[in-house]
Amino acid sequence: MNETAPITMIQSDGRATHPGYMPGWANDFETEALPGALPQGMNSPQKCDYGLYGEQLSGTAFTANPPERTWCYRIRPSVKHSARYTMLELPYWKSAPNVIEDVTSLGQYRWDPMPHSETPLTWLTGMRTMTTAGDVNTQVGMASHLYLVTESMKDAYFYSADSELLVVPQEGRLRFATELGIIDIEPKEIAIIPRGLVYRVEVLEGPARGFVCENYGQKFELPGRGPIGANCLANPRDFKAPVAAYEDREVPSTLTIKWCGQFHETRIGQSPLDVVAWHGNYAPYKYDLRNYCPVGAVLFDHPDPSIFTVLTAPSGQPGTANIDFVLFRERWMVAENTFRPPWYHKNIMSELMGNIYGEYDAKPQGFVPGGMSLHNMMLPHGPDREAFEKASNANLGPDKLDNTMSFMFETRFPQHLTEFAGKEAPLQDDYIDCWETLEKKFDGTPGKK
Ligand SMILES: [Fe+2]
Repeated sequence: MNETAPITMIQSDGRATHPGYMPGWANDFETEALPGALPQGMNSPQKCDYGLYGEQLSGTAFTANPPERTWCYRIRPSVKHSARYTMLELPYWKSAPNVIEDVTSLGQYRWDPMPHSETPLTWLTGMRTMTTAGDVNTQVGMASHLYLVTESMKDAYFYSADSELLVVPQEGRLRFATELGIIDIEPKEIAIIPRGLVYRVEVLEGPARGFVCENYGQKFELPGRGPIGANCLANPRDFKAPVAAYEDREVPSTLTIKWCGQFHETRIGQSPLDVVAWHGNYAPYKYDLRNYCPVGAVLFDHPDPSIFTVLTAPSGQPGTANIDFVLFRERWMVAENTFRPPWYHKNIMSELMGNIYGEYDAKPQGFVPGGMSLHNMMLPHGPDREAFEKASNANLGPDKLDNTMSFMFETRFPQHLTEFAGKEAPLQDDYIDCWETLEKKFDGTPGKK
């Protein structure tokens, strides 16, 4: 099927199945799954066509500039997808503040890939929080998660009132069937699911493993480009929002809500994914990381890693993000007389990294696909001995870093390890030793290199 075809296929059981996408970042999109379902020239007609209900989903306060909101035309208003709530325990999904007394977050940490378990896990039960930062109640900070998913959610739906979710698959393929349409993602792609949007996650190819950045704060946006100008990095046209897709499906179902760090379940009699048409600029997206056009040094030295920012979530303090999502992918290294890997450093920002595939240049060993590392606020780190020696003695011709894709969730707030990250996840006890064999080379001799 044409990727952008505005068509929704409805299965005999009433489920929408066909993904289709509209290109552009933060466009004011409009899409309808049935002809004429979208009112023209106004938002709130006295009666909507097909007997639909009009409803606005607001992602910002009304007076924000620009406001982010989407008008939905749906089979039932959302209040019909909401009954009494009961608390639900999801013990592995944590929210900030979550400071564990006997778990030390001060340190350089690295984890092997978390193996899949024999227990069937869904998007909700398979979420494993690694770190939390800030405070979910004041809507600042973030959490980083690992997901291990083997089972589709069946007649079960979810939304987070707390957060926007940035999903980074590492293994397997997932389908996000959302109120506003269907997004399929696989490794090398990401999805952004906005706060408040209801969805169900299905496993298209499993088991699925990946990473999630849960953003409590202001939404992700494209970074300012400064002197780079209008092109390269993540180009707006490569972000894709789904076309409308609805379900007319009346079966006993559950809707789980994450609200101020707690989970609540409500029982309803139908699928809440019943938006037949919508227009607006508050929508989920997917993005293919292979479209990210990296920019770097073309003569000597290299810029700060901020040059590789895909998306940034502002914190209110200009230039100091609540979260930066940074991508380290294939690129040519051409700088002359330069130590090319990342230099040794110590930052105010806290850096959570994950490896999607391949080998990361500062850590040829130990940081493997599916693995993660954490370098917390003001803790020194940098290349290991092998990377340092190799880069210091390399013959510096043009060299392509190939078969590599890692990312960083970087936040201005310290990241606290969860009990799972400190005690259950496959933490590498010897990570700190990767710098142990770095030699003292200085002996006072002028001109010695
Ligand atoms: Fe770093």
